[in-house]
Amino acid sequence: MSAIRSVVRGVGAYLPARCLTNADLVQMVDTSDEWIVQRTGIRTRHIAAEGEVTSDLALKAAQAALADAGLEPGDIDLIVLATSTPDNTFPATAVSVQAGLGITHGAAFDIQAVCSGFVYALATADNFLKSGAYRRCLVIGAETFSRILDWSDRTTCVLFGDGAGALVLEAVRDGEDGRGLLTTHLRSDGRYKNKLYVDGGVSSTRSVGYLRMEGREVFRHAVGMITDVIVDAFSATGESAETIDWFVPHQANRRIIDASAVKLGIAPEKVVITVDKHGNTSAASIPLALATAHADGRIKRGDLVLLEAMGGGFTWGSALVRW
Ligand code: ACO
Repeated sequence: MSAIRSVVRGVGAYLPARCLTNADLVQMVDTSDEWIVQRTGIRTRHIAAEGEVTSDLALKAAQAALADAGLEPGDIDLIVLATSTPDNTFPATAVSVQAGLGITHGAAFDIQAVCSGFVYALATADNFLKSGAYRRCLVIGAETFSRILDWSDRTTCVLFGDGAGALVLEAVRDGEDGRGLLTTHLRSDGRYKNKLYVDGGVSSTRSVGYLRMEGREVFRHAVGMITDVIVDAFSATGESAETIDWFVPHQANRRIIDASAVKLGIAPEKVVITVDKHGNTSAASIPLALATAHADGRIKRGDLVLLEAMGGGFTWGSALVRW
């Protein structure tokens, strides 16, 4: 029986021009380069300019992904954009990207699953494409977390940054040498919603609020949740730590990434790490890392690429892609 698979056609990313180093943060809060690097692996992060909004970042990443795919905006009929830092309460940031690309057909909407947003968006897009409802989708992760940080709180402000990344997925019947999204697994457990949250919102405070986190608690749960959902991906496909070519995790924290890889038995040389350059960009971090490893020639056509993320909610998920 013939089946539709979502095949990756292109990937692109965008980081705002302004770079904030650990040395810059030392001027702002009581911290040190040594503490930040040792605890998180982060050295720099990018900060959106005054007036530069999430859809601006997303649009640039989308244009880069389309150029990489050799496609025109008119070829896209679905945009799924993951963000927790939308331009406005409504409409969806995705429709601003749609308008920016000059697309007037198809559909565009946002997904909100915090740091797991890109994996959630990928799974959503994949199901729409497999159903036959749409043909080509831009899956975007875009964030301006700098706007929800309490810049006087050293326990959070050193961790996050702004950025965007995008994939173009195309529905292909009967695959191309087994290429495409092989499986996705999504999980959430709202009992943990107070471990990582924003202390404001439309319906609760009529304001935006600031990010609050119990860092040690998040860390405590992260590795177990990430590895569980990766085991689910391996069980569903028969693949393993040995057969994957690349592990592209959510770029939150170097220690979480390293501990997850060790627990799963994934060789360090297969792990793509970019958190040092852009910090935790939430939903944007996986496509930013994918774009880096695609551009520098590490991820090649036919490679088996494992993605995972975990974030506020808690939400978590995995995806396995034959590139
Ligand atoms: N600079 C210097 N000292 C600091 C800083 C800082 N920026 N932040 C906290 N400290 C201090 C604390 O005040 C504490 O001091 P004390 O012992 O005098 O009270 C000390 O450092 C240790 O604090 P801990 O919170 O125990 O530090 P820990 O080793 O747990 O590291 C961190 C903190 C990096 C936040 C860690 O808990 C972590 O990585 N958690 C995961 C958080 C995460 O990645 N969240 C992202 C969102 S979720 C996701 O994407 C997976």
